[in-house]
Amino acid sequence: MTEWTLEGKTVLITGATGGIGLAAAVAMARQGAHLVLVGRNQTRGLDAISEIRRRAGSDRAEFLRADFSSLAEVRRLALVLVAEDRPLHVLVNNAGTMNTSRKLTIDGFEEMFAVNHLAHFLLTRLLLPRLQACAPSRIVHVASNAHSFCKEIRWHDLSHEREFSAFPAYGHSKLANILFSNELARRLRGTGVTSNALHPGAVATGIGSNNGIAGRVVPLLLKPFFRSPARGAATTIYLASAAEVDGVTGKYFYDSQPVDPKPWALDTNAAGRLWVTSERLLGDLLAP
Ligand SMILES: NC(=O)c1ccc[n+]([C@@H]2O[C@H](COP(=O)([O-])OP(=O)(O)OC[C@H]3O[C@@H](n4cnc5c(N)ncnc54)[C@H](OP(=O)(O)O)[C@@H]3O)[C@@H](O)[C@H]2O)c1
Repeated sequence: MTEWTLEGKTVLITGATGGIGLAAAVAMARQGAHLVLVGRNQTRGLDAISEIRRRAGSDRAEFLRADFSSLAEVRRLALVLVAEDRPLHVLVNNAGTMNTSRKLTIDGFEEMFAVNHLAHFLLTRLLLPRLQACAPSRIVHVASNAHSFCKEIRWHDLSHEREFSAFPAYGHSKLANILFSNELARRLRGTGVTSNALHPGAVATGIGSNNGIAGRVVPLLLKPFFRSPARGAATTIYLASAAEVDGVTGKYFYDSQPVDPKPWALDTNAAGRLWVTSERLLGDLLAP
């Protein structure tokens, strides 16, 4: 088998219009990948394509629009890629949102749980046939050490109706990312498709800037202490591109090293239950 590189491979990155996703896209374009950038805003998507052309000298990037707060839009996006038999070697589940107040999506789910977890569960499941057809292939989940703020999935209150607290609710969605990555790794063993999650560090990006004036001012104050998006993207790039992680699956990485997440993120019962619960919530949307 030839050594893994990104040259000529197709990489789909969600939330690639800014922050960590765009920085990862630029780096992977430099390594010769064909990029499918996904985001909710057409203008920002086209700006991202221009930035990749300017910084990486690559025209092998395209933008596809889908708002992950709508499960129907995620399904539409995935079905287009499947219908066109698109190659897919790396899926980077990166799009994320952080809200300081409780918001519901058009589908009635708490927005962080819906965008950060459910939408990516749906996208991944629908794209699995493409990843399997292109195996060896990789799924990379941009999770967070914020999973330490939330010790378990709120099985009886997934949308935080009874109680909402911003950091635990964000941590809840990021705990779901790690549990999903681990369950996926277990289910995909032997298929040539790997699944790993990561913490990018504290990174100066646009996350949280949708939360009024505080959401814009606090990041500015913290910026000097945070990593640049390029540095924050390093572990994503490593998991997508490094030959040495060929076949490595079901791990959690920080600074390109496998590390242990909190013990509750390694709970296999919770991971299995989240899989089944997500399937139940998504119902017919999962149909191929
Ligand atoms: N920054 C950190 O310190 C940090 C730490 C740990 C983990 N993370 C994780 O890193 C990932 C990337 O975040 P970031 O820090 O790079 O933040 P960011 O700069 O805000 O980028 C987030 C990306 O997700 C997209 N997005 C948000 N809501 C969306 C929706 N409803 N539909 C489609 N796309 C949507 C954004 O699109 P728009 O351009 O339209 O807003 C943007 O492209 C997230 O999963 C986050 O949880 C970040």
